[in-house]
Amino acid sequence: MTDTVRILMCAPHHYEVDYAINPWMEGNIHRSSRDRAEAEWNQLYQVLQTYAQIELVEPQPGWPDMVFTANAGLILGDTVVLSRFFHPERQGEEPYFQQWFEAQGYKVHLLPKSLPFEGAGDALMDRGGQWLWAGYGFRSELDSHAYLADWLDVEVLSLRLVDRRFYHLDTCFCPLTDGYLLYYPPAFDTYSNRLIELRVPAEKRMAISEADAVTFACNSVNIDRVVVVNKASDSLKKSLSERGFSVIETPLTEFLKAGGAAKCLTLKVTETHHQSPQLSTIQSRVIQLEGHLLDSGLVNRVLDTIVSGGGSFQVLNFNLGAQRLDTSVAEVKVSAPDGVVMADIMGQLIDLGAVSSEVSSDAKLAAVTQAGVTEDDFYATTIYPTEISVAGQWIEVQAQRMDGAIAVTHTPTGTVARCKLLRDLQVGELVVIGSEGIRTKRNTTTLKKATTEEFSFMGAGVSSERRVELVVEQIAWELRQIRDRGGKVAVVAGPVVIHTGGSKHLNQLIREGYVHALLGGNAIAVHDIEQSLMGTSLGVDMQRGVSVHGGHRHHLKAINTIRRCGSIANAVEQGVLRSGVMYECVKHNVPFSLAGSIRDDGPLPDTQMDLVEAQAEYARLIEGADLILMLSSMLHSIGVGNMTPAGVKMVCIDINPAVVTKLSDRGSIESIGVVTDVGLFLSLLVQQLNKLTGTYRVS
Ligand SMILES: NC(=O)c1ccc[n+]([C@@H]2O[C@H](COP(=O)([O-])OP(=O)(O)OC[C@H]3O[C@@H](n4cnc5c(N)ncnc54)[C@H](O)[C@@H]3O)[C@@H](O)[C@H]2O)c1
Repeated sequence: MTDTVRILMCAPHHYEVDYAINPWMEGNIHRSSRDRAEAEWNQLYQVLQTYAQIELVEPQPGWPDMVFTANAGLILGDTVVLSRFFHPERQGEEPYFQQWFEAQGYKVHLLPKSLPFEGAGDALMDRGGQWLWAGYGFRSELDSHAYLADWLDVEVLSLRLVDRRFYHLDTCFCPLTDGYLLYYPPAFDTYSNRLIELRVPAEKRMAISEADAVTFACNSVNIDRVVVVNKASDSLKKSLSERGFSVIETPLTEFLKAGGAAKCLTLKVTETHHQSPQLSTIQSRVIQLEGHLLDSGLVNRVLDTIVSGGGSFQVLNFNLGAQRLDTSVAEVKVSAPDGVVMADIMGQLIDLGAVSSEVSSDAKLAAVTQAGVTEDDFYATTIYPTEISVAGQWIEVQAQRMDGAIAVTHTPTGTVARCKLLRDLQVGELVVIGSEGIRTKRNTTTLKKATTEEFSFMGAGVSSERRVELVVEQIAWELRQIRDRGGKVAVVAGPVVIHTGGSKHLNQLIREGYVHALLGGNAIAVHDIEQSLMGTSLGVDMQRGVSVHGGHRHHLKAINTIRRCGSIANAVEQGVLRSGVMYECVKHNVPFSLAGSIRDDGPLPDTQMDLVEAQAEYARLIEGADLILMLSSMLHSIGVGNMTPAGVKMVCIDINPAVVTKLSDRGSIESIGVVTDVGLFLSLLVQQLNKLTGTYRVS
């Protein structure tokens, strides 16, 4: 026990639940009993008096929450950082607390008016280490933590609160003597939990149950080995006692109605710490956004990304375009608890089209010292056109694709930046790391329109027949346009195309010049050839729709036949293969790539079993494509989606809405998903093209 501890309290003469500024108050307005509150507060006062000297601040009418003195400010030594209340309902308390602190001779620091910080409710000294735990997310702004570190000369560890019920740090986190910690982990985000686990050894961490958390077991007053609390479960009391703490319960039910208990009702005014160099890992960056920010929902997505990534923001400027077609510009300050979180958030913001306002910063480059490997903080590319700043010049990144790195080479004719897969990085190349000096281009004008379109075809699951017809009309029109202007269409197809009787329609598309590359696996070719040679697909007679005796071996026979010929092209040349999708490809010089998989029978001699090479072949075939038609192959469609840059239209047809959604989720605004049977889709598509051209032949 120590007699040097002094605690500030405020009698509840004006206490009342007058408004609702946290979930506990909701439903409790004017439901607390003043008499009971007085009695409970007096009992707490008596208990604490045994262990500490109690100081009192005069309660003020009209400021019912002044009773919660923990929120008056944060004290360390002879310095106070006065609270800046988030809600106007409490802002009137500030001058009274300021007066009290000044009268006691404290040096009082005032935060900027627009920067909320709620004192010792959101900032608690660790009792083992010499650092300050500081909460943010509901009442205090992350940026305030940087001031704490500076003014109080202390290391600040920022923790993000994510559960509205635990809106202040001291409602779910209580550092105890000797470095013990009582806390409720679900009240914090993943990053914060990791930080707590890094700083507090497992044997000192006491994670409490939800039942204890909601009776405010963490909101306790700890003096030496005594823990004064509203209520604690038997198991919590037992585990505290095993660690040498004695628990004193004193009911505070009337204050719980306002979301506070023992700790909220007290402010320790004799808080000291051994001087350690001040350290704040908080980082801030300013970003700029330009475009149709409101229409496209981009601003919301940016702010959401910051908050869900563990950061906080301040909108510095927002110039809304005057006319409907004018673009808007916004400037947003992003803060993050440390460099790792900041890099992660900035990476995502760049993907959304944000540009760092630090115009002078060039992209940071790191040399590759081991082939196929780079620094862990390399910038992972997206599908969107990207530029990097090198020596003050923005240069366009070539071969844009997602999940790559940006490799930079200096050539006699200039600097070249190119998206490369990690495995292709060469020693001596430079790779962009971090998030500075990088910008991506997002077409915000079409963002909203395209998103609506994309999902309207998917509806609540399976698209209705009429909706499918509508989208088919649109795709047919597009195919026609592309073919007539000499553009390029790549088709990705799975064997279901053959099983559903879609091959005759795909044949037609190839013959009429609508397909310029075919990407698939072993299966589409095997079953197409099986059908061509034996009239069955997976052993099912395609005319009659019944299984053929011994048909399950047909596809193996087909493979054997092609292997004998040496290749699909040889089989066509030798007159062995005389119809089907693969036949049409060979006949019409449509290049194809068949990527191998572990499921493959055979494989066919044309199937590329070296997957790295298969990916390269796919990438070559989709280069320059205007549209990619993805027909019922989850594996290959997603593979192609990952290597396709923004700007290429993607149409994905699959019976499973999850596959269609997965493709749309890559964020491309140009993708259309159609949930339907692929055979039906192809037949409608060909009919529609027939209407447009007036020529339709099926063979
Ligand atoms: N015998 C073989 O060698 C053999 C046989 C089958 C698959 N494979 C190989 O396995 C890999 C994966 O094969 P995959 O692409 O067929 O499977 P996949 O699971 O990747 O894709 C099949 C897709 O078709 C969809 N689908 C099913 N019925 C449909 C319908 N009527 N209309 C529209 N969509 C429909 C499914 O929802 C699924 O998304 C490939 O590499 C393939 O070559 C080999």
